[in-house]
Amino acid sequence: MNRFFGMFRGIAALEPAPRQVSFFDDAFAYWDHPMSSVQTWDVAALVRACESLKIERIVDVGCGTGRLAFALAGAYDTYIGLDSVQGPLSIFEELLRDSPATGIETRLMDVLHPFSLESLDRRTAFVMGNVTVNSFRDSDSLITLMRNLSKSFEGPKSVLLSVFSDEVIDKFPAFDHVVQPYTFRAPSGRNRIVWRGIHYIRSEHKLLHNVFLEGGITGEEWPGVLGNHIERVWTESAVKAVLEAAGHRCTRADTMYVADGGAKGWPVRLMHVTLDTR
Ligand SMILES: C[S@@+](CC[C@H](N)C(=O)[O-])C[C@H]1O[C@@H](n2cnc3c(N)ncnc32)[C@H](O)[C@@H]1O
Repeated sequence: MNRFFGMFRGIAALEPAPRQVSFFDDAFAYWDHPMSSVQTWDVAALVRACESLKIERIVDVGCGTGRLAFALAGAYDTYIGLDSVQGPLSIFEELLRDSPATGIETRLMDVLHPFSLESLDRRTAFVMGNVTVNSFRDSDSLITLMRNLSKSFEGPKSVLLSVFSDEVIDKFPAFDHVVQPYTFRAPSGRNRIVWRGIHYIRSEHKLLHNVFLEGGITGEEWPGVLGNHIERVWTESAVKAVLEAAGHRCTRADTMYVADGGAKGWPVRLMHVTLDTR
């Protein structure tokens, strides 16, 4: 599902049409990663939760560039990062090569397909930091995700997931056709403009992310590359309702606050989900 808004729709209609890729594709991972500040606002609450659950192994669902593998070092013995896109995983693997960290593995996999993981047990927790749950765009995907996690190894399982608190939903209409230009130095040494936009569709709880990388940034010729990502803005009670109807148990473990960007200061809940294993 590709959805562009405003000027991005016009760019998508250019002749020749720009290549359209996922926001997490190599082209964007390599552009976005150096420009983004590393988020740390969820780390303290995750460490507290791992300590109280006596976690030894972490399975990071949608691990991206492995932020949590490094940030939670000391809170686990072994860590497996799962992601469906090679771009962020390649950056993660590069960071690992330069790091003294041990016990870390990565797997390229789409968690919406059934999978199994060896040598995990009740001391394992699945972790989803930084509202990664928003990448699962409807109730069916959320239920499929939890079912696949629940069947990935034998025994009881916990998921620690971060999700926006209920009151935050009224703030999202502020993201109405917001477009911001950034400069970026291409490998050629030339400065280029990156256009980054977000737009919230209230009736669907959907947040559209559109990015246009001007030709010449990633080796692409004119006109460039269009990136697209759609999030479902989940809130605590909406996630709880869907998961509890599917037999899982949800409790609130902690509250955190986004530290920067457009959502600065917004409360995020850390939920502890005990998966139904029937
Ligand atoms: C917001 S980003 C990563 C954030 C990372 N968890 C953190 O806390 O820094 C979300 C990640 O989820 C991954 N993702 C989305 N859907 C997925 C799926 N079905 N299976 C595996 N990974 C997925 C994306 O590729 C992306 O890297």
